[in-house]
Amino acid sequence: MKVLFVTSEVAGLYKRGGLADVSYSLPVALAKRGVKVGIALPYYEKIKVHPVHCVGQLAIDYDRRRELMFIFKTTLPGSKVPVYLFRHPLLNEYDGPDIVERFGFFAKAVAQLYLYSDAILGGPYDIIHCNDWHTALVPLLVGESSKVGYRERETIQSKHAKTLLTIHNLLYQGEAGVSITLKLGFPKPLFHTFMTPLGRAVRLLTEGFEYADMVTTVSPTYATEIMNGDHGVRVRDIFDRRGDMIAGILNGIDTDLWNPETDTALPVTYSARTVAVRKKHVKQQLQKAVRLPESDVPLFGFVGRFEARQKGLDLIAGAIDGLSDTSYQLVLLGTGQPKLVAAFTALAERHKNIVYINTFDERLARRIYAGSDIMLVPSKFEPCGLTQMIAMRYGTLPLVRNTGGLADSVTDGKTGFVFGPYKKSALVAKMNDAIGLYVSSPGKFREMIVRAMKQDFSWDHQVKAYLSHYKKLIR
Ligand code: GLC
Repeated sequence: MKVLFVTSEVAGLYKRGGLADVSYSLPVALAKRGVKVGIALPYYEKIKVHPVHCVGQLAIDYDRRRELMFIFKTTLPGSKVPVYLFRHPLLNEYDGPDIVERFGFFAKAVAQLYLYSDAILGGPYDIIHCNDWHTALVPLLVGESSKVGYRERETIQSKHAKTLLTIHNLLYQGEAGVSITLKLGFPKPLFHTFMTPLGRAVRLLTEGFEYADMVTTVSPTYATEIMNGDHGVRVRDIFDRRGDMIAGILNGIDTDLWNPETDTALPVTYSARTVAVRKKHVKQQLQKAVRLPESDVPLFGFVGRFEARQKGLDLIAGAIDGLSDTSYQLVLLGTGQPKLVAAFTALAERHKNIVYINTFDERLARRIYAGSDIMLVPSKFEPCGLTQMIAMRYGTLPLVRNTGGLADSVTDGKTGFVFGPYKKSALVAKMNDAIGLYVSSPGKFREMIVRAMKQDFSWDHQVKAYLSHYKKLIR
């Protein structure tokens, strides 16, 4: 089986968030299972990789011009998975104005590479696996459009591949003015337009829902939430019409990259067997490094994007007033929106038990995963979430809200702490429960740590679900 994995970010080459981790570890896991997988990614200027060589070029009609695109090939660092990098000035940067149009252009290039260039790809692929809005146009462009009489249908080599779209975050829809259809040179009736205050628009993600042969998301609970319209986007009508559902497959983590037994960022390594004696050294070293008093109160950690809509930082900020400063410590790491950064900088100045580090530092993140007692993940919504799984692997109990992938990976009182309503009082109550357990029932706390460490969040397990969907698609 051959799978072309199309994405806007891949860890080791260009990373912005959790999508990059999955775009690395899932293809690696598929390759281990014998799938011939290749990755398609824009060749952003920031990508520095060696060796890399040019394997061909494509002519793409875009915005009434003929654009020349060079395709480079390299391998995913630390693996043999081939990566096709798309070089064109429009794809030099990820961010910037017209981001949606530019990813539309990337999608057109991917479709063109697939449809017209067996030579570069070494023959047709069975599955094109797209991710999020950035690549959600690929199914339409690759020829699903034949359903509605797309006129180039006769000229393409084959419409051999089936397309699968995975949603990592429904919040981002990829909205553009309807002129994008002209730029792409595809007939407007193929798109599903809607009215905005600024005129007619299209959403790339919607086109993915309409045209992909299958749609999945990154946890079963998030799939149900989306189908119920919980996140403010109505998709049920589309899926009723399609006669299928969004399937939820929980992400895995790369358990070699995240391994407390081998992690070189840690002052001492440990396993489920040695965690009880060794983890406290990691905690002490962390307290020292971030200048927290080396006292034995429970240490909470937070690692993530400082983003107001998703990650629950407003709850954390609110909860601080409801907790006694002397009963716990908190270390937060991450960058993001200036308002949140300022708020947490101020909070850390006022509270001696709180430290906020406004950078992204992977080695420090690892020390926080390992050195904290409890990892906070109070997200308003969370399609999957990797933090809670990494925390458990490092014997740090996650404290999460009952939503999306958090609900699917953490069991209250067994492998972590789970609270329900998105309210600061609910977070305070759960944090107090966790603090109480740490202080009064250290034996039970340790049991939970060992149970959490023994959970299997590896891709070995999860990749089977993707394989069975791929097989269903090509049958
Ligand atoms: C997005 C989601 C996150 C998920 C990740 C990988 O970043 O917000 O919940 O874990 O994608 O699928």
